[in-house]
Amino acid sequence: MTALRCPVCGGTLLRQEKVFRCEKGHSFDLARQGYVNLMVHNGSGKRHGDDKRMVSARTAFLDKGFYDPLSRLLCELAGKTEGDVLLADAGCGEGKYTCDILNALKCSGRKAEGVGVDISREALIAAARRDRSLTLAVASSAQLPLLSGCCDMVLNVFSPFCREEFLRVLKPGGTLLRVWPLEQHLWELKTLVYDEPYPNRPPEPEAEGFILSEYRELRYAITLHGAEIGALFEMTPYYYKTSREDQRKAEEAAELTVRLEFGVGRYTKAGDAP
Ligand SMILES: C[S@@+](CC[C@H](N)C(=O)[O-])C[C@H]1O[C@@H](n2cnc3c(N)ncnc32)[C@H](O)[C@@H]1O
Ligand SMILES: [Zn+2]
Repeated sequence: MTALRCPVCGGTLLRQEKVFRCEKGHSFDLARQGYVNLMVHNGSGKRHGDDKRMVSARTAFLDKGFYDPLSRLLCELAGKTEGDVLLADAGCGEGKYTCDILNALKCSGRKAEGVGVDISREALIAAARRDRSLTLAVASSAQLPLLSGCCDMVLNVFSPFCREEFLRVLKPGGTLLRVWPLEQHLWELKTLVYDEPYPNRPPEPEAEGFILSEYRELRYAITLHGAEIGALFEMTPYYYKTSREDQRKAEEAAELTVRLEFGVGRYTKAGDAP
């Protein structure tokens, strides 16, 4: 299944060993760590996406199984589709859910391939360590390096939602699985760190151009000890916006029971669905 699109001319990128090349001769090397950089250069020179420290905090934390109920729900929802699957994970991070879903589909006898896209090179290096067979591209979800209409499924977990791009890359009748935090997600962690924590404002589940085939809310609590509390805080987008003094409150806590709350949507691309 060929899916990658040249970020310069929009042509199909074909892989020849360690290089991706389009018909017009634009070429992109596969880095030895297992990803290809297809980022359209924005000239800002700013840090892109999660850094090494955030990525390793998240890998270590996820591997302890605290988010496994979410992963099981995503595998169940992905299993409701039919046929072989080309899955694109937009904002894949280190690819935990990408791999869990692909494995679940393969276990049910289906052919399944995955493309992970993230602006963080460090996250993709970690994803390649999880599974060398993933195609991993540094790029933004706002300009996915994927051909139009090539994907059976798009996965979007805790990462920017780029509705038009997701519609563009999906086949007619294709599936979008989207996860976002509900109001009280990580509430006790916020209470521990901030004097005036505020609840999340979840998005409306409906999305134009998509049929919301199924909406689920998943809520449970986990109990963390010692360094796990700081690791969870480091995984959040709040970490780098928080003073050192407040960061320490999470790092120095001994035990914390914290709520996890996810909104999960299974969508079908509207229109001429098969
Ligand atoms: C909270 S993490 C979630 C990662 C993964 N989906 C998971 O749930 O484990 C958010 C990810 O989105 C990536 N990201 C942020 N902005 C992005 C963008 N515009 N395009 C693609 N990825 C982006 C970050 O680098 C990070 O890996
Ligand atoms: Zn090209």
